[in-house]
Amino acid sequence: MLYVNAQVAAWMRAAGMTVRQDHLGNLIGRYAARDPQARTLLLGSHLDTVRDAGKYDGPLGVMIALACVEQLHARQERLPYALEVVAFADEEGLRYHGGYLGSSVFAGTFDPVMLQRRDADDIPLAEAIRAFGGDPDALAVDQRAADDLLGYCEVHIEQGPVLEARELPVGVVSAIQGQSRFAVRFTGVAGHAGTVPWALRRDAVAAAAQFVLAVEAQARTREGLMATVGQFVVFPGASNVIPGQVALSLDVRHPEDAAREEACQELRRQAEQIAMTRQLALAWDFQGASTSVACAPRFIGLLTRAIAQQGLPALALASGAGHDAVSLAGITDVAMLFVRCAGGVSHNPAESVTVEDVAVAIAVLEGFLTRLADEEGGGA
Ligand code: GLV
Ligand code: MN
Ligand code: MN
Repeated sequence: MLYVNAQVAAWMRAAGMTVRQDHLGNLIGRYAARDPQARTLLLGSHLDTVRDAGKYDGPLGVMIALACVEQLHARQERLPYALEVVAFADEEGLRYHGGYLGSSVFAGTFDPVMLQRRDADDIPLAEAIRAFGGDPDALAVDQRAADDLLGYCEVHIEQGPVLEARELPVGVVSAIQGQSRFAVRFTGVAGHAGTVPWALRRDAVAAAAQFVLAVEAQARTREGLMATVGQFVVFPGASNVIPGQVALSLDVRHPEDAAREEACQELRRQAEQIAMTRQLALAWDFQGASTSVACAPRFIGLLTRAIAQQGLPALALASGAGHDAVSLAGITDVAMLFVRCAGGVSHNPAESVTVEDVAVAIAVLEGFLTRLADEEGGGA
């Protein structure tokens, strides 16, 4: 086992869990139930991050789940259901632009075509999986059987400003909005910056820049729409060369799936229009999408009561960010608890949480587990 998984696996074992890594690189720690036939509640989040990331987006959810199991283990206490803490691999999709890679394998929705996809260094995903100790040919066996599952509960930083504004340490997620990702490429003609006359210029950056502003304008004027160009790569990328090509990423989100799909089509039309007017070629490649997901009312109720037990109001809020819970919703009921983060800052090294808020989140997750234990028969 490599890197962060080796460290987290050691902590899982110390918390009384049996540990395995699946063929993709998801790390799974299991804390057995009283009854070996009992069903399983999944807890967890992801361990990967974005580039130049903060410390909490993903790992906090794994660590809080682990903390709850540690407490059970310290008390030698078993629940009427088994717990699995899952530390998912590659939720962010930074390298292969898919998103939810680990959780899609876990949920059985992974598309094997992805294995041929190449990163910026031309390394296929299949090879990257092998380098992490996995086996790209065996991913199908990692699909988790749904009939054994009670549900999945993920704790995560809010990544937004709502909890801070309401002066609340935690909140209950009602739903997670859907998202679509595209790889867009404008291809013009590279040329000499000093000699090519305006009439002959086919400048890919000028076209791509126009598109970026069109994306922004579209998102600003459509209620609920978020659209972002996060990567922008210029070829050949020299100060005295007219850019021949730009490769950019496009991330589109909306709480309503139909509105998101309509916005994607409209943005594509605008890109085509820009390319045509400027006599450039356009490549528009769909990279992946997920639909909006509603959290399970039963779990929302349990989390709400667990928050109330801490003497706090239980604010329900929707998630603008994507989470592994989206994949898991395909096989089981899902729930999420958000933790306040300073300034709502995330995907940034300045991401931060307080020890006090994390303590509340641990107490709420423990309360959730206890209440679920009561409902499942027998209490904790
Ligand atoms: C995950 O962090 C996402 O929402 O992109
Ligand atoms: Mn993230
Ligand atoms: Mn995350």
